[in-house]
Amino acid sequence: MENYDIGPHAPHPRRVAVVGAGNVGATFAYTLVLNGLVGEIVLIDIDRERAEGEAMDISHAVPLTNPVRVWAGDYSDCAGADVVVVTAGTAQRPGETRLDLVKRNAEIFGHVIPNITQHNETGILLIATNPVDVLSYVAWKLSGFPSRRVIGSGTVLDTARFRYLLSDLLDLDARNVHAYVVGEHGDSEVPIWSLANIAGMRLNEYCRRVQCDVGDDLRAHISHQVRDAAYEVIERKGATYYAVGMALVRIVEAILRDQRTVLTVSNLVPGYYGIEDVYLSLPAVIGREGVERVVELALGDEELAALNGCAQVLHTVLAELPDQAVEAGDGAA
Ligand SMILES: NC(=O)c1ccc[n+]([C@@H]2O[C@H](COP(=O)([O-])OP(=O)(O)OC[C@H]3O[C@@H](n4cnc5c(N)ncnc54)[C@H](O)[C@@H]3O)[C@@H](O)[C@H]2O)c1
Repeated sequence: MENYDIGPHAPHPRRVAVVGAGNVGATFAYTLVLNGLVGEIVLIDIDRERAEGEAMDISHAVPLTNPVRVWAGDYSDCAGADVVVVTAGTAQRPGETRLDLVKRNAEIFGHVIPNITQHNETGILLIATNPVDVLSYVAWKLSGFPSRRVIGSGTVLDTARFRYLLSDLLDLDARNVHAYVVGEHGDSEVPIWSLANIAGMRLNEYCRRVQCDVGDDLRAHISHQVRDAAYEVIERKGATYYAVGMALVRIVEAILRDQRTVLTVSNLVPGYYGIEDVYLSLPAVIGREGVERVVELALGDEELAALNGCAQVLHTVLAELPDQAVEAGDGAA
C-alpha cells in the first residue's frame, strides 16, 4: 500500500492564533479566512463554547471561500503561530473611555500573555484589546519579547477613518488620500493635517487647484468625527468590529508577506520628540520581523505639542498600573 505520510519535515501551513473570540476576534478570523492569507486559525477564549460556536460558523464558509482550518483550541495551539492576535478583554461600555478599561484588561493580560509565551517565544504578538497602547506596553513587558515583535493595532483604524472621511468630503477613492492619525488610540489622538497628501500634493495645494475648501472649522469637525467614531458606533450598535477586523488583517498581511508597509501601529517610541518608554502610534515599516523601523514625521508645532500630550496621558496611566502588570518579563527594546 502507498505510504502517504509526508513526514515531520513537511512544510507547515501558516498559523494565526486569536486569543479572545468575541466580536473583534471572530470578525478578524472571518476576514482572515476571506483573505486567504493563512492555512490555520485557532480561536482561544475563556468562554470555550463561544470559541467553538465561532469556529464552527466560520468553518462553514470555508467551502465557499478558501481552504483554511479553523478550530477552537487552547494555549498550546499558539505553538508555531506566526502571529498571535490578542483581542481578549472586556469592551467599552457606552460612554466609557478606553482608559477606564485599563485595570480590568491589564489583569486579564497578566493571565493571557504568559500563557501565550509559554508555548510560543518566536511569533509576533498583535494586540487589539483596549486601551491598546497601554496594553501593548504591558504585553511587551510581560512577554520579554523585543519591542518590534509586540505591536498594537494603534491608530491604523483611526487613520482609516480619517482617510475615509476626507475621501468622502473630497469625493475621491480613499486609497488616494494619504493622511495619518498618530499618538494614542483614544481621546488624545492627533490627526496630522499638515502632512495630508493627495496626488502628490499637500491638501492645501490640492484644494487650491481643484477649488475646494477645507477650512479650520471643517478640519475640527472631521478631527472630532474621527476621534469619536467608536463612541458613535457603540452608541448605535454596541460594539465596533468590522473595520478593526480589517485593520488587523492588513497588519497581519504586511507581516506574513514581508510587505514593508507603512502603518500607524502602536510601538515603543525610540526617543523621537523626546518621547520614550511608552507605546503610541507613529507610522512604522511593518515586515516579517514586525516593526522594522518607526518613521519620524516632520510635525507642526501644535501637532508636536499634541503628540507630547498623548505621551503624557499614557505615561500617567502606566504609572498608575500595579507593579506586577509591567514587571514580569521585562521586555527588551
Ligand atoms: N484596537 C482597536 O482598534 C479596537 C477596536 C474595537 C474594539 N477593540 C477592543 O477589543 C477588545 C474586544 O472587544 P470585543 O468587542 O471583541 O469584546 P467581546 O466582549 O465581544 O469579546 C471579548 C472576548 O474576550 C474573552 N475573554 C475575556 N477574558 C478572557 C481571558 N482571560 N482569556 C481569554 N479570553 C478572554 C471573552 O470571553 C470574549 O469572548 C476590547 O478591549 C475592545 O475595546 C479594539
